[in-house]
Amino acid sequence: MSKRFYITTAIDYVNGQPHLGHAYEKVITDVIARARRSLGEPVFFLTGTDEHGQKVQQAAQAVGKTAQAYCDELAAQFQALTVALNLSNDDFIRTTEPRHKAVVSALLTKLHDQGDLYKAPYRGWYSWKEETFLTDKDRGPDGTFAPTWGEVTELVEENWYFRMSRHQGWLLDHLEAHPDFVQPDYRRNEILGFLRSVALDDLCISRPRARLSWGIPLPFDPDYVNYVWFDALTNYFSVPAALGDPGALEPLGAYAPKAEGRRPKVEGRSAGDEVRSPEAEVRLWPADVHVIGKDIVRFHAVYWPIMLHAAGVPLPHQVLVHGWWQKDGEKMSKTTGNVVDPLAVVRDWGVDAFRYYVVRELDIGPDGNWTDAGFRARYTAELANGLGNLVNRSLAMLQRYRGGIVPARSDELATEVLQTASRLTAQLRAHQLQAGLITIWGLVNRANQYVDQTAPFKLAKDPAQASRLDAVLYNLVETSRILAVLLWPFLPTTAARITQQLGLNETPDHLSAADWGGLAPGHRIGQPEPLFPRKE
Ligand code: ME8
Ligand code: MG
Repeated sequence: MSKRFYITTAIDYVNGQPHLGHAYEKVITDVIARARRSLGEPVFFLTGTDEHGQKVQQAAQAVGKTAQAYCDELAAQFQALTVALNLSNDDFIRTTEPRHKAVVSALLTKLHDQGDLYKAPYRGWYSWKEETFLTDKDRGPDGTFAPTWGEVTELVEENWYFRMSRHQGWLLDHLEAHPDFVQPDYRRNEILGFLRSVALDDLCISRPRARLSWGIPLPFDPDYVNYVWFDALTNYFSVPAALGDPGALEPLGAYAPKAEGRRPKVEGRSAGDEVRSPEAEVRLWPADVHVIGKDIVRFHAVYWPIMLHAAGVPLPHQVLVHGWWQKDGEKMSKTTGNVVDPLAVVRDWGVDAFRYYVVRELDIGPDGNWTDAGFRARYTAELANGLGNLVNRSLAMLQRYRGGIVPARSDELATEVLQTASRLTAQLRAHQLQAGLITIWGLVNRANQYVDQTAPFKLAKDPAQASRLDAVLYNLVETSRILAVLLWPFLPTTAARITQQLGLNETPDHLSAADWGGLAPGHRIGQPEPLFPRKE
């Protein structure tokens, strides 16, 4: 079986409810995953939750729950979000699952046996909130640590370290030789600048169990648990290994977990049932794209490749970095109530309105700003009056003037439609999602203009124009059909509704169907219904 296009999101901390930033990242990843499927590639899309560590332990304590019970509740909310957002993820990893822990232990044991790990004392200023030792660089001009670090105390403790610094030169060479490894370019340049100017420290990968019990025990020193980033990053690799992917198991060699220890979960969402069958061979590793936010680039573009390289595991192809959302020009914050609840937006406006706004508003890279007024404006102008009106009036006119029967083929809009499809295909391959929507709306606007220019409602009053009316109607319904195909990666529910209203049974999930002339003359369409009801 050929290797699948393997794409991942960051795994979300369960120390709070899912928010707009989480939802945005999952949606753009879903659009890329669906785009690849639509292009005919086999795909595996992984998302999940990051459940160990100080913050989660503290959040559980604060509400009087065990860490496990607390994680179970929060993980259920993140899983519910994947359903509400209509994500096509093939699996959902929780870092508290045995299949994940087994692979983390295997990697740690291998690195330990190779001499890549050592124990040493450390004294420093520790931020309990951010779970990290601070340095003098983190001090403000007055010498104190900013309140955003929370409680900071001096701490001396023995810990385990990973020999990371010795790989700095190798990583720099790798980044220079692989311009696509970190994208967009300005993020790549930040990492290159960092690697050229700062000597890497070795990475502390443990916490004494005495102060942090909620973690994966170090297999070679039970007084310690693994510190969260090593654990969290490994999720991308532990799922392929758990599914028996030879690309993940072979590099682990004798350290690979036994088959019964890596059985996939039975519950959860799966787009490909063959993944659940232990006999079927799954080939995923190396990952094609890790989609992450700008705050965690160093972990993914420095620590992660070095961890893999040291363990003898092939590297992922790309770390794709998105920006951060604000609301009304300010940081989102639960304490001020300045938040966007993605579930509430989906409930009030529909999942595709949410998916459309976030992808159309913000390109992958820069920071974005959510405003309710901007959301409503796009909904009204681009979804209701743009796409919705085009499809609705095209189908309604075919019903009214031709009894819903598709007339003889006409190719008046064919060239423009095919140009749109090929431009979109290139943009999807390059992860240019915002540009892709702009391309599609170029066609939506062109087709609406075509209605206004050809004025089918006037043609319908003149029997001498019957064949001209046939031609206009064919162009409009065929354009609507192809729009459903082009839209599917972005707005899968809307795309399916258009296809269904056209009286077609297939799911519009293959770009190969964006070929002019697919709608057969004589076919009877279904009932048009508004796609995006106008709201007062
Ligand atoms: O960092 N806008 O989890 P997390 C856009 N568990 N994206 C945002 C955002 C915002 N306002 N806020 C957060 C973690 N994100 C780790 C990841 S991966 C091995 C471990 C993004 O819940 C953030 O950039 O804090 C990250 O990619 C993701 O949401 C999860 O953030
Ligand atoms: Mg964070």
